[in-house]
Order: sequence, then structure tokens, then C-alpha cells
Amino acid sequence: MDNEEILGHLIDFGKRISRETNLNALFETLGDFSRDIVNADRCSIFVFDKNKHELWTKVSHGVEELRMPADKGIAGFVVMTGEIQIVTDAYNDFRFYDEIDKQTGYRTRSLLAVPLFDKNENVIGVIQVVNKKKGFFTNNDAELLILISNYIGSTLENAILYEKLNDTKIKLVYKLSTAAEFKDEETSLHTKRVAFYSAVIAGAYGLSRDDVENLIVTAPMHDVGKIGIPDNIIKKNGKLTDEEFDIIKTHTTIGYNLLQDDENEILQEAAIIARDHHEKWNGRGYPKGIAEEEISLHGRIVAVADVFDALTSRRPYKEPWSVEKALNLLKKESGIHFDPNLVELFMKNRDEVMDIHEKYKE
Ligand code: C2E
Ligand code: SIN
Ligand code: SIN
Ligand code: FE
Ligand code: FE
Repeated sequence: MDNEEILGHLIDFGKRISRETNLNALFETLGDFSRDIVNADRCSIFVFDKNKHELWTKVSHGVEELRMPADKGIAGFVVMTGEIQIVTDAYNDFRFYDEIDKQTGYRTRSLLAVPLFDKNENVIGVIQVVNKKKGFFTNNDAELLILISNYIGSTLENAILYEKLNDTKIKLVYKLSTAAEFKDEETSLHTKRVAFYSAVIAGAYGLSRDDVENLIVTAPMHDVGKIGIPDNIIKKNGKLTDEEFDIIKTHTTIGYNLLQDDENEILQEAAIIARDHHEKWNGRGYPKGIAEEEISLHGRIVAVADVFDALTSRRPYKEPWSVEKALNLLKKESGIHFDPNLVELFMKNRDEVMDIHEKYKE
């Protein structure tokens, strides 16, 4: 690549990353860019997990997330020494760790690995490009990678921080939502399944990656209002009286009032879901009895996910239904209780639904 081409790439790269708000997508862009700018076949961005003493890949072209011991391989050498490495023939380098090739069936030949630093100059990862398309990696290639490694380093540092916060947030949501919904410390599997079923529908509907990720946090909170309903009603192992059911119905507005927050759009979304998840397409739900598109899209999505999961789960008042029977109810209630378009998307993605059902079994 000549200088003009590189400049063109850099400008294009700047445009793309400034538009990218999703961190995972940002890393994909960074990986693609690093690969292209040095004419490599693949790029991996390794993250150094100090606690587990492992390296794992944030980006890895063509393969799933990989993990390896932090002191293994060329990448491990770079993490331990903080030095750049250029390797022309990996299999003739005693440091090379061939386990990953063995797992993926890929054949590494040449390799260039550059350390990533945080702002305190600690190594926090490695950017590694593999298999130069023509010839070998040069010092020029190394310089180009160093140029963007500063940017990748600080992005990575933020991403690690963000992920820790996000992990805390999600765990907190599952734990508190579960405590509110079931009044005791059961597993948070119901709240998780509702989150993931909702994500399947939202993804199929065409919502953006950010919107789907937000829904994974907001959907589990749909029933937090049950915290305001007496235990003996929630845990009653038989049919509810009309009076008891009227009390239960208030969990929607209690949840809305609890979560409602004008300044935080995620909480606001959660509040709307709590309020709307028992509304019905035909206008015969509660609390307001609104119909069709008057009901927020998020509320309509969670309605399908929540009922499917309630039906296929054990409750104090009912045995679990089979998946077949639950899907039949969704079909029967399509256009009555549920948005028909969303039921269809749920059915179309039955395989993913089954994976979630199996993976998060009680
Ligand atoms: P939940 O247990 O999370 O159920 C959520 C929704 O799933 C229900 O909303 C309903 O639409 C659907 N669903 C659950 N089980 C069945 C079922 O056996 N058949 C059918 N056709 N649909 C079912 P719904 O009815 O508005 O109830 C809201 C909440 O009220 C329930 O949340 C549960 O906490 C409570 N509840 C409802 N019925 C009973 C009951 O008979 N006994 C007790 N103890 N609680 C009940
Ligand atoms: C290495 O860095 O030695 C190998 C890691 C890889 O295959 O990506
Ligand atoms: C909401 O945040 O749920 C309201 C907008 C919509 O989903 O239709
Ligand atoms: Fe509910
Ligand atoms: Fe629920």
C-alpha cells in the first residue's frame, strides 16, 4: 500500500469508527482495519485477563472467542515483555502456540504482534495480524500497527471498564428482578429466559444491536412491581379470587412508578415494559386496555416472551406445559392477545428459542 492509499484508509476508518456506537462492532471495525492496512489474512485482538492469567480474543476473524494461557505463544511473549514481534515462519518459532491452529484448522505462517497499553503503560492486550498476503510483515507494517495500537489500547481500556460495569448491571438486574418476581431467592433463570426470548424477537424484527442489548437489561424487570404484592397472593398454589387478581394487576403500574425516570432512557424503557407487558393486542389487557400499536413495541415483545416462559415453567399454581402446547397457545392467541407479527417472528426462530429453553433449564 502506498502512502496515499494508507491515508485514504485512515480517513475511511475514522469515519466508520466515529459512527460506531456499539463496542463489539467497534472492535470488529478495528480488527478489519488492522488486517487490511497491513495486507494480512486475519487479525485477532487479544485481551489480557490478569485474574485468570489468560488471553482471550475480542476479535477473531472467522472463529469463535478463543482463550489461551497468558504466557503461551507469541502473543503471550508480547504480553510478558511488552515488545513487538515479527515472525516469518511460526512453526519454526519455538514460542509459537499451535493449540489454536489445531482447534480451528487454520495454518498460521507469518505473524506480527503489537502490545496494547493502558494509560498507565500496563500491557492490557495484543493486536496480532496473521499471514501476510504477499511476502512477510515488515517494519513498515509494524509502524502502521503501532500508530493505531494507541487508539485500540485506549478503546480496549474503556471497553474492559464498560464490560465490568455492564456485567455488574446485568447481574444486579437479574438478581433484584428475580427477588421481586418470586419473592425469594430462586434462580434468575426465568428473568434470563424472558430477556433472551425478547432479544430473539427484537433481533428478528430488525431492531439495532444497541436496542437489542438494552432490551436484555430492561425485559427482565417486567415484573419488579410484584414487590408490592403480598407474598400470600404471589405464592398461592391455586386459583386466584377476583379480588386477588385485581391486586396482582397493579404490579404493572407499581413497576412503572418504581422504574419511571425521565433522565435515564434505559430505566424509562424498563418502566414502559413493566406497564405494558399485560396489555393485549385486542385491547382487553391491563392496566389501561390499550390496543395494537398503542402498546409500546417493547411491551408487545415482552408479552410474547413472558407468556411463553410462564407456560413452559412451573409456577406455584401450575405445572409446566410442553413447548408444543405453549407454541399452540401463542398461535391461537395471535392477533387476540399478541401482536401477530411478533408471534410469527418467534415461531420462525424456533431453533434459537429451543436453544435458550434448553440452556437455561431449571
Ligand atoms: P406469571 O405466572 O408470570 O404469568 C404471566 C402470564 O402468563 C399470565 O398473565 C398469563 O397471561 C400467562 N399464563 C401463565 N400461566 C398460564 C396458564 O396456565 N394458562 C394461560 N392461558 N396463560 C397463562 P396474567 O394472567 O395476567 O397473570 C399475571 C400474574 O398473576 C402471573 O404471572 C402470576 O404471578 C399471577 N397469577 C395469574 N393466575 C394465577 C393463579 O391462578 N394463581 C396464582 N397464585 N397466581 C396467578
Ligand atoms: C501465538 O500467538 O503463538 C498463536 C496464537 C494464535 O494462533 O492466534
Ligand atoms: C418504548 O420505549 O417501549 C416506547 C417505544 C416503542 O417501543 O414503541
Ligand atoms: Fe407480569
Ligand atoms: Fe414474568
